[in-house]
Amino acid sequence: MIKRPRRLRSNENLRKMVRETRVDKASLIYPVFVKDGTGIQEEIPSMKGQYRYSVDRLPFALEEIGKSGVSSVMLFGIPGYKDEKGSQAYAQDGIIQRALCEAKREFPDLYYITDVCLCEYTAHGHCGMLCGQEVDNDATLKVLAKTALSHVQAGADMVAPSDMMDGRVKAIREILDEHHYTGTPIMSYAVKYASGFYAPFRDAADSAPAFGDRRSYQMDYHNSREGIKEVLLDEEEGADIIMVKPALSYLDMIAKVREVTNLPVAAYSVSGEYAMIKAAAEKGWIDEKNIVCETAVAAFRAGAQSYLTYYAKELAGYIDEGLIG
Ligand code: PBG
Repeated sequence: MIKRPRRLRSNENLRKMVRETRVDKASLIYPVFVKDGTGIQEEIPSMKGQYRYSVDRLPFALEEIGKSGVSSVMLFGIPGYKDEKGSQAYAQDGIIQRALCEAKREFPDLYYITDVCLCEYTAHGHCGMLCGQEVDNDATLKVLAKTALSHVQAGADMVAPSDMMDGRVKAIREILDEHHYTGTPIMSYAVKYASGFYAPFRDAADSAPAFGDRRSYQMDYHNSREGIKEVLLDEEEGADIIMVKPALSYLDMIAKVREVTNLPVAAYSVSGEYAMIKAAAEKGWIDEKNIVCETAVAAFRAGAQSYLTYYAKELAGYIDEGLIG
């Protein structure tokens, strides 16, 4: 036999030498839930090990994140009250705005990305303004743009619209530029599917739609070319980073998106992916460490440059241990 693939698998140093995919902590982004109130650090029942923090407790969470070597976070807000218009999304003293002030003061070296959407802020739980039972695309754009601007004014380093309205990237880019935030990047949740994997998040953020579902704005998971259409539109509108979400069931999309754009690609391993691994690990049916490493590397192998995951801190530890890297 002349060709023996096993030769390159015979030694740990060699296996690492010829590795095709490298993972490092700098590519990890950790999602954090911030909730109105004080003294709150409550575990999310469907996401064991993840918490909702009030602004005064947020520094404890950020300290741990920083210590783990993760340097970027994605902030999600849970407001004190919700209304039809989602007005707490852009309120100057809104939850994200206050969280950013505190976070930037206490840990200025972390990088802060904010999720821009209305579903956590509207009483009806939809991602935009309603007109009857419909989500009104164009009326929503103004509110999203206002929200993104208020995040940046409060200190956000990057904004990430996740609402899936048409034209939102352009609307956000325009308002940021008008206010001289020309250097603030936009990470677009461009390829976002209407997915059952978001269920634990909606518990965490109390953001499930009160009626109907999100299929009139999030994508149908039967479609792949439609995802490419979204990528190309968002690139034209001024997106700086393209996100694919969820990650694990959409590795094909990560690989395709990488081929059609030169923008960096981020993959979001969402709440349901986290919850499935946690639950199976608790039962002793899988090895949590192994599965977390394997699923993370899969996203990078498919073509992602950045990875949003609730396991970011653990992954940083696994990288330190040399389990992956
Ligand atoms: C807000 C938003 C959601 C997620 C990120 N931003 C929920 C949704 O679209 O219903 C999901 C994240 C996760 O499941 O971890 N629109």
